[in-house]
Amino acid sequence: MDKSHGRTEVLLNEKKLYKPSAKVLKNVRVRQYKAMTAKAVKNPKKYWEQAAEELEWYKKWHTVLDDSHKPFYKWFTGAECNIVHNALDRHMGTPIEKKTAIIWENDAGQRRKLTYRELNKEVCKMANGLKNLKVRKGDRVAIYMQNTPEIAIAMLACAKIGAVHSVVYAGYSSHALRERIDDQAAKVLITSDVGFRSGKVIDMKSLCDEAVQGSPSIQHVIVHRRSDTPCKMKMNRDTYWDALVDSQPAKCETVPVDAEHPLFILYTSGTTAKPKGIVHVHGGYMVGINRTLQWVFDIRENDVYWCTADPGWITGHSYIVYAPLINGMTTLMFEGVPIYPKPDKIWQVVQKYKVNILYTAPTLIRTLIKFGDKWPNKHNLSSLRLLGSVGEPINPEAWRWYHRVIGKKKCPVMDTWWQTETGMFMITPLPSMPLKAGSATLPFPGIQATVLDEKGKEVPPGKGGYLVIKNPWPSMLRTVFRNEKRYLHTYWEKFPGYYETGDLARIDKDGYFWIQGRSDDVLSIAGHRIGNAEIESALVSHKAVSEAGVIGKPHPIKGQTAKAFVILKQGYKPSDKLINELKIHLRKTVGPVAVTDEIEFVDKLPKTRSGKIMRRVLKAQELGEDAGDTSALAD
Ligand code: WT7
Repeated sequence: MDKSHGRTEVLLNEKKLYKPSAKVLKNVRVRQYKAMTAKAVKNPKKYWEQAAEELEWYKKWHTVLDDSHKPFYKWFTGAECNIVHNALDRHMGTPIEKKTAIIWENDAGQRRKLTYRELNKEVCKMANGLKNLKVRKGDRVAIYMQNTPEIAIAMLACAKIGAVHSVVYAGYSSHALRERIDDQAAKVLITSDVGFRSGKVIDMKSLCDEAVQGSPSIQHVIVHRRSDTPCKMKMNRDTYWDALVDSQPAKCETVPVDAEHPLFILYTSGTTAKPKGIVHVHGGYMVGINRTLQWVFDIRENDVYWCTADPGWITGHSYIVYAPLINGMTTLMFEGVPIYPKPDKIWQVVQKYKVNILYTAPTLIRTLIKFGDKWPNKHNLSSLRLLGSVGEPINPEAWRWYHRVIGKKKCPVMDTWWQTETGMFMITPLPSMPLKAGSATLPFPGIQATVLDEKGKEVPPGKGGYLVIKNPWPSMLRTVFRNEKRYLHTYWEKFPGYYETGDLARIDKDGYFWIQGRSDDVLSIAGHRIGNAEIESALVSHKAVSEAGVIGKPHPIKGQTAKAFVILKQGYKPSDKLINELKIHLRKTVGPVAVTDEIEFVDKLPKTRSGKIMRRVLKAQELGEDAGDTSALAD
């Protein structure tokens, strides 16, 4: 038994609690896990090659891993494929064709179901529509939509013709959307007229109009119609989705692309104000997400699978859209809010669709705990077989509640640690393993992770340090879009030869990993990643603000919240009104994710002699902790 933070951890016994399917049993029982991992370490190329052989390729690779220009790794070189061939084409003419691919529901109770055949048809038509707008292989298409089947159709249609999609989460502001469109020089933007959230209507098209006004790259805006009120359409630029697609043929050849051809760009926050365009490719990405979904979630033929994330994040890309479709699963897209209108909305949906696998985030679990057990207890949750968690460390209390109250102690909790950059689960249990509440457990077979000290030396068990990955993996990011320097600097410079995750962790004496949060200046608010610098830069873009320093503070529900220390320009006086105005400004410039709970006006900020704000010192002062080394402090 591991003692961690003075708590005794639960160790679940594999046989008593969970009966894995034959496939998982064969591959990933504890004993096999060790053998499998040893094999993968000894011959990683063979291990990943076998994983690749489980998918269909137009042309086989000549080299599994090309590391001649590391860390610009290439996987399955020489191969031709298309992820859409695996997600849709190959299911046609098989029994999967008639199966439900997507169940969609929103919080107004509207619902839709699409079979694989119907989904394929919609994707073909949209792909033809995009071709009509002269979207070519390699062109970037930005997508700004809510969690609807159309977002998946748009993504798949792009991938089908070799275009590169870039989904911008619909909670981002028009300013943030514009920044992302400009960075990638997107040719087309796909959106909807309006969106719905918690009973409110969001005017998506107006946000898009603001974002693309004067854009040097955008040629077309495609608008999916969701309301009866026509919106303002700009001649020769804007077209309704139905007008573009209805007359298109229902067949479209999938374009074979090189295994290393970019599939999507997804922006994520870093330590500077500018977000990074993380690039993923067709070949390696599909191999990584396919194997991890199969093994970690122990998927079965008639599973109904619900990942509560939004397709606008990596979780949605990998584990709502691509991997479930590759596996012919039924994936549930719920556009509503899991606690709206009542705290048991989530359990109503689980019961109604007999969800077998539920994959959600610690922040939601903690919110649900707050409402009390009576809400889940009102519903029949017996369809659940397996539970997942992602986005931030899950505290042992939340883990236990999830396991006991939702899983009735029968469902293993898979705490999956990974990142936008990794594309797939990296440190995660397999359902047949002994679990410890609050630990993401062990690296997935084929992944070697460790913890280093400041000098790059591996630390002994129990000691915290920097979480790094020792070897390349197929679904790793390939670069930061048009910014190789930033790719090298962010991930490969601090510890040469290792991929730096930006997280802190410790490994216990059983080899289990305990993730402790970020080591860099990146916040995780309710599982959403945002850079301190992004909020600071948004604050100083307000006319009243001269300087701003932002820190993260622990929060019982959201994991973390942001607190901003703001120096006002001369002529401005601190007031509650100004605080409110700054919050609205943050919402407008970055989006609701950036709204900062606390804003405090100060006269001075701790700085280095070179003028850099020392957030570490601010944080220590705020939390009443020791500031550590302050020799760099100016005064
Ligand atoms: C960061 C990545 C991966 C999809 C969602 C977030 C944190 C993620 C866990 C977990 C502890 C986690 C890390 C990571 N994180 N999953 N199971 N336990 N921390 O993707 O926005 O790229 O953020 O989220 O800090 O670095 P992302």
